[in-house]
Amino acid sequence: MFQHVIVKTPCSNVLLGITSAPELGKPDYQLALSQHAAYIEALKQCGVDVTVLPPDEAFPDSCFVEDVAVVTRKCAIVTNPGAPSRNGETAAIVPVLEKFYPAEHIHRITAPGTLEGGDVMMVGDTFYVGASARTNAEGIRQFAEILQGYGFRCVTVPLEKVLHLKTGVNYLENGNLLVSGEFCDKECFAGYKKTEIPESEAYAANCIWVNGTVIVPKGYPAVLAAVQGLGYPTLTVDTSEFRKIDGGLSCLSLRF
Ligand code: GLY
Repeated sequence: MFQHVIVKTPCSNVLLGITSAPELGKPDYQLALSQHAAYIEALKQCGVDVTVLPPDEAFPDSCFVEDVAVVTRKCAIVTNPGAPSRNGETAAIVPVLEKFYPAEHIHRITAPGTLEGGDVMMVGDTFYVGASARTNAEGIRQFAEILQGYGFRCVTVPLEKVLHLKTGVNYLENGNLLVSGEFCDKECFAGYKKTEIPESEAYAANCIWVNGTVIVPKGYPAVLAAVQGLGYPTLTVDTSEFRKIDGGLSCLSLRF
């Protein structure tokens, strides 16, 4: 169960966020703000307390707070984002984590290691980590070493196409995994109950489980039906403006 969630209000420079899909257009800032507010309300309905951090105009992508830290039930790890324009985002998260974790349980990934939280998927005491354009082998080595100190296990998942691991695979607890594209046939996920997401709705593989409820992006009926078919209560949140800059439901929060 999660008790706490941290989110960060989008800044007006969110329009300048990194994107692999410029054809979708720039985010509408006011709409992004209202979608973000609806996201917070959905999280609160799942019974968590939500810490809302102020916007930071220096970092267009900083609303994607998941990438700057990995939060576990025993420790927090401040990452070292591989995207140069995002690397400085970590400074602001440290004082926030200090409110929830003792200093000796807050760790850091340091250069030349890089790692972004969107590449980390927690399944109980196992942490799958995507080896991506943002997360390198040294970052994963440091991450695994830190986790080992807490009795956690790390499994590396080489990525071929997507930005982050959780762009295409997400754990819904109870052995259930939502998978799309390159993750459908990965050997490391063979033991799970996999629900394959059709290519036309691949974006919505990025759902989040929060205390028994699954939050699904609005506008993806096949994914919504599949998740409901697994027996989960669902909430939907429109993330259209975040999709324009490669962001999804999981990237918008830290859950612990
Ligand atoms: N625009 C989100 C990211 O590239 O990290």
